[in-house]
Amino acid sequence: MAELSFRPRPRSAVLESRPYEPGRSPADLSPEARRRARAVKLASNENPFGPSPRVGPALAGALAELGRYPDPSGRGLRAAIADRLGVPPEAIVLAGGSDQVLGWLAQVFLDADRAAVVSRHTFPTYRMVALASGAEVAVVPSRPEDDPRPFAHDPEALAARAARGGGILFLDNPGNPVGCVFERPALARLLETVPPEVLVVIDEAYIDYVDDPAAVTALPLLARHPNLVVTRTFSKIYGLAGARLGFGLMHPEAAALVARIRLPFSVSSPALAAGEVAWGDGEHYRRSREHVLAERPRLATELARRGWRVLPSAANFLTARPPVPAARVFDVLFREGIILRPLRGEGIDAYLRITIGTREEDDLLLEVLDHPGPAGGGGTS
Ligand SMILES: Cc1ncc(COP(=O)(O)O)c(C=O)c1O
Repeated sequence: MAELSFRPRPRSAVLESRPYEPGRSPADLSPEARRRARAVKLASNENPFGPSPRVGPALAGALAELGRYPDPSGRGLRAAIADRLGVPPEAIVLAGGSDQVLGWLAQVFLDADRAAVVSRHTFPTYRMVALASGAEVAVVPSRPEDDPRPFAHDPEALAARAARGGGILFLDNPGNPVGCVFERPALARLLETVPPEVLVVIDEAYIDYVDDPAAVTALPLLARHPNLVVTRTFSKIYGLAGARLGFGLMHPEAAALVARIRLPFSVSSPALAAGEVAWGDGEHYRRSREHVLAERPRLATELARRGWRVLPSAANFLTARPPVPAARVFDVLFREGIILRPLRGEGIDAYLRITIGTREEDDLLLEVLDHPGPAGGGGTS
């Protein structure tokens, strides 16, 4: 068959965007590394324990309903979230991952005249959803590398940029890939500076790993600032990254605007069922949280002992600069079945991001750093 050339033309905004580069996965490992059966994925900040043990039976129950469309409003889960977080159910927008909330907000509040304001070292999805909406992206410099808070966001500079005009200011708190965190007074000051026409999205994907989440969450600011949206996810501490479930907390008028463009069945019934039981399992939550709070300083100390520069982190990952080139360390570990996240293209190429794994996974990482296999061709620390 003669080759036909593809003629339909995409919007120019689509040509400016780039596909999301996911972390590598065990499927990318060589057969040899897989044979050695030590595929350790420390690349995407998931919960190494997976979801609550209650999720399996809930999913089995959900099977009976798989032939039917899900409840488009996710009433049961929204009621449970509303109850725990003290917000009205009309303020909660459920989505197939918090990514999707970000995309919907961009569709509603951004266009060619209303830019997205983002920090230099931040979650790349903000840029992606903004470009897809035809908006410009205004990038605000982060703190310098030699600052006491290396590469952290600069909330004052972000607010000042948004005050000059913008559609949405996106800020992840804690931040990814740096792990920086700001307590509520800094966020309150930012919200006082940003004009009420600009939406401020505070992405709290990692809030559960902060030492004192109550001192950090922007939730109490929702009542004072109708232009504030807080996003949360089930992909991290709740261990449901594969189910795709997240939500946004926002002024009911913002939620009503999102409802105009939100496709009705964005959250599957298995995700709703899994989310409800995961949200209710306080024991699994505490175990997952306590693990990270104990393992984070241990791994940081061990890496520092091996000459790595470890950035302060309030999340379930560490971002650190090895004493030899990051790309080499990544390759050596990858060949040994240990997958970290390179930060190429994010302006901190010399660093790697390491998800806190189980204690055994982290020990294996340290062991391979100390004794890289013959494939490594030399030390990595
Ligand atoms: C800051 C931040 N926000 C949101 C997400 C995505 O969450 P979800 O899986 O709910 O789309 C991530 C995932 O890595 C993240 O790092």
